[in-house]
Amino acid sequence: MTGAFDVGEVDRLLTTTRSVRRRLDLDRHVPRELIEEALEIAVQAPTANNHQNWRWLVLTEAAVKEQIAELAASAWRHHRNAMMGAGRRRHAPQARRMDASVAAFTANIGRIPALVLPCVISRPPDSRAVDEQWQRQVAGAPEGDPIREVSLGPLRSSVFYGSIYPAIWSFQLALRSRGLGSSISCLHLPFERQIGRLLGIPSGVTQICMVGVGYTLGGDFHPAKRYPAKERTFWERWAT
Ligand SMILES: Cc1cc2nc3c(=O)[nH]c(=O)nc-3n(C[C@H](O)[C@H](O)[C@H](O)COP(=O)(O)O)c2cc1C
Repeated sequence: MTGAFDVGEVDRLLTTTRSVRRRLDLDRHVPRELIEEALEIAVQAPTANNHQNWRWLVLTEAAVKEQIAELAASAWRHHRNAMMGAGRRRHAPQARRMDASVAAFTANIGRIPALVLPCVISRPPDSRAVDEQWQRQVAGAPEGDPIREVSLGPLRSSVFYGSIYPAIWSFQLALRSRGLGSSISCLHLPFERQIGRLLGIPSGVTQICMVGVGYTLGGDFHPAKRYPAKERTFWERWAT
């Protein structure tokens, strides 16, 4: 088939792929082949210089997931106490719903059928160090030379995380088109070192997030309420 998409169906997939935290079926096994298929689709995503500098760690063993669950629960308690301790309890209904949803997801991490850890084979750039090094490099350039104004930090950061999140999103889309739901979680990342030791991840590798995967329960998903893109899009010049 060349070129012809069912636009309505593609748009439905793109607009109704939600973070599924409370509606993951914790009791239904997810076949390994489905995760493998979704990952094959995910790796079609773009990466800077086509580096494909990723690894995907899929966890299904209960004992390992339980250990990660404990670390994530500890991080969540810390985060929640810090938020509330600082008098920043969230009152908006949407925010409270999300907090409850994150709490439920966190409590169930050990039972989620598969946890997928997307990793990058390097460490995130230290933006300031990159810029300082560049400044040393161009220190000899004449005053007023535009090269002195260049900063490389934002470029390196953009390339680092921007070369994995498109694939993570494709993975989530491919899961949904196969009847599975997923949700990203970063809560455990403060324990990156402990998790690295637990799973044998080398120290030069960065864990980006964790994607919980399972079949979904309940009815269909809907487009989320978002600020219309039109209200947040400028043409030709930034407008305030
Ligand atoms: C970079 C990134 C980090 C995220 N981290 C978390 C997280 O730590 N915990 C969580 O429950 N959801 C996390 N999410 C999911 C968002 O909270 C979610 O996408 C957002 O609230 C919109 O909801 P929706 O995906 O259902 O449309 C993350 C999403 C992204 C893109």
